[in-house]
Amino acid sequence: MEIKVELTQNPKQKVPADKLGFGNVFSDHMFIMDYQTGKGWHNPRIVPYGSIAYEPAVMVFHYGQAIFEGLKAYRTEKGEIVLFRPQENFRRLNASCDALCIPKIDEEFALKALMQLLTIDRDWIPDAPGTSLYIRPFIIATEPHIGVHPANSYHFIIITGPVGAYYKEGLNPVKIYVETKYVRAVVGGLGEVKASANYAASLKAQMEAAAKGYTQVLWLDGVERKYVEEVGTMNVFFVIGDEIVTPMLTGSILPGITRKSCIELLRSWGLNVVERRVSIEEIFDAHEKGILKEAFGTGTAAVISPIGELCWNDRKIILSNGKIGELSQKLYDELTGIQYAKKPDPFNWVVKVELT
Ligand code: COI
Repeated sequence: MEIKVELTQNPKQKVPADKLGFGNVFSDHMFIMDYQTGKGWHNPRIVPYGSIAYEPAVMVFHYGQAIFEGLKAYRTEKGEIVLFRPQENFRRLNASCDALCIPKIDEEFALKALMQLLTIDRDWIPDAPGTSLYIRPFIIATEPHIGVHPANSYHFIIITGPVGAYYKEGLNPVKIYVETKYVRAVVGGLGEVKASANYAASLKAQMEAAAKGYTQVLWLDGVERKYVEEVGTMNVFFVIGDEIVTPMLTGSILPGITRKSCIELLRSWGLNVVERRVSIEEIFDAHEKGILKEAFGTGTAAVISPIGELCWNDRKIILSNGKIGELSQKLYDELTGIQYAKKPDPFNWVVKVELT
């Protein structure tokens, strides 16, 4: 399928690297494609970034048929543009499609479309240390209809924008509140896919934790409120003695691409990574015994986010003396080293964008 291209007549002013936050600035163009029952996915196009008009009745506004992905493009020291395991994102997008009864996309075509978009907006990919271009593919239901059923029309859209650090703390440890009142997801629900609804469901807890002075929450399982699931919008790892523990994917946890990459990296270093259920009690006990060495979140946006403090009901613990843990730092350096092509890429994770 050929992608039609309409270039902007009004290129936007770029934001200086030191003014970049996360998610406020958008590049000049976007990719968009339509779906209609009977016609399938069609009319792929790259057009100037801008507003799209929808009827108030479109189903995404009412029943939340919305899914998304997040990945980054990096500018290397040689000036090349690379992506990190992008095939994994489009595979997961299709898993999200399946969970929300959204018609699947052609993963290879989606990657090709993204490459073309990046070629057109290449000047938007920043080169300052720690910056990258965040890429947000998403699909929404666009059929105007008030009955509850899977929609008959959708938009698949990709927008991009230059970003700096996700958390204002950067790699500095964040304070985490162990959430005992709200849950993020339950097995059988949407927790293991990237449904927008999961993020809507997380807001209340996050706001209440913020009011108590915490950056994010640690999510426990929705049934027993006992087992650790995720931290904020990230997967979570604990170093307990000689074991590196991350919650196993039970069906309510997002299978993060950074999570998977960390497991593969740690194992390649000969370290003992175990995917299993881990209770919050075990974490606090390990701290009491002096064997909880560090804990960190993993995700595309922040890469690694060390946990400096955990508050569970009336118990508070400080991890790694509130400093960046050794393994957190090593993983961050290795992952970002591979992503920016500063270090060898033994797993062939990096995909070069051929600028045409
Ligand atoms: C991540 O990349 O860690 C996320 O899921 C955050 C994103 C929703 C901004």
